[in-house]
Amino acid sequence: MGTLTVSQKMTLAQDFLPINGTDYIELYVGNAKQAAHYYKTAFGFQSCAYAGPETGVRDRASYVLKQGKIRLVLTTPLNSDNSISQHILKHGDGVKILALWVDDAYKAFEETTNRGGKVYMEPQTLTDEHGEVKISGIYTYGETVHLFVERKNYNGVFLPGYKVWNSKYNPTDTGLLYVDHCVGNVGWNRMNPTIKWYEDVMGFVNILSFDDKQINTEYSALMSKVMSNGNGYVKFPINEPAEGKKKSQIEEYLDFYEGEGVQHIAIATNDIVSTVKQLMARGVEFLDAPPNAYYEELPNRVGKIDEDIAPLQELGILVDCDEEGYLLQLFTKPVEDRPTLFFEIIQRKGAQSFGAGNFKALFESIEREQAKRGNL
Ligand code: FE2
Repeated sequence: MGTLTVSQKMTLAQDFLPINGTDYIELYVGNAKQAAHYYKTAFGFQSCAYAGPETGVRDRASYVLKQGKIRLVLTTPLNSDNSISQHILKHGDGVKILALWVDDAYKAFEETTNRGGKVYMEPQTLTDEHGEVKISGIYTYGETVHLFVERKNYNGVFLPGYKVWNSKYNPTDTGLLYVDHCVGNVGWNRMNPTIKWYEDVMGFVNILSFDDKQINTEYSALMSKVMSNGNGYVKFPINEPAEGKKKSQIEEYLDFYEGEGVQHIAIATNDIVSTVKQLMARGVEFLDAPPNAYYEELPNRVGKIDEDIAPLQELGILVDCDEEGYLLQLFTKPVEDRPTLFFEIIQRKGAQSFGAGNFKALFESIEREQAKRGNL
């Protein structure tokens, strides 16, 4: 397999679970009203749909935000006797649901649970005046869930039970287009079983692997394997901590999330310089720029690129390449007080990889932040 490109490896995935893309990502948060304001103001998401007491939902309020093809759902419980409250008490704000858009949610459930998937939601059909949505779900790592969403017979705003959310406050978007990949952090010795789970239960294929020899700094290390479905529309890298002189960022995550979960959501843009400038101006905090030497070495490491280096350096944007092209990327700081979930902004120019050449520069930057928190 080592001689195949990433694109060639994807064709080896099995097709018992056809996936059209990410349907939505749902976060459980302590105060969805305020979180929605943050994602609108800082990231440029647009008001889309709402469910809560005003729409007949008694136990929660959910805000659906949209930008490009991305749907972000922010849900908060309305009382303490609630599984969402328990989730937030343990994990803080974080990703609960990675929902996948499928053509047949009943078949997706049957195929995956027959292969060992643990049931989260039995298949069900939700209806309203706009049609029907079929939905089912299984657990993946930690308490995180994959829902299968079939919406070919639905033309409502989001799901049955949701109403259009008309807001008078509508900041402009920032050029975010679609979910490129979502990364999970798992515990010690849990990466390979998780990889096998994605192979066996979901029919995914391992397209890239990094070990602690490749991804390490003076202090800490991690191992990572990237799982993809056959068409490459859904990619889930899985990280595991590795032994280092000090505590790795993955361990810090596991300590503060109190378990396995989603580490970062990578969102694609067609113009990373413009997108990052806007995000910074609107208060999104990014990791510090790598040292000047990183940009001096850039032409040697990645070859010729279309962009001028000066604006990349000014914004701290990282560049990496593989045999199929190059990519530009930048990582936010965690978006909660617990050092858990963060975002990545990525622009691909041919490359199908994930920026392994940047991991060292990235890690050193993360470790500076970890040290400030007293967790290194
Ligand atoms: Fe990433």
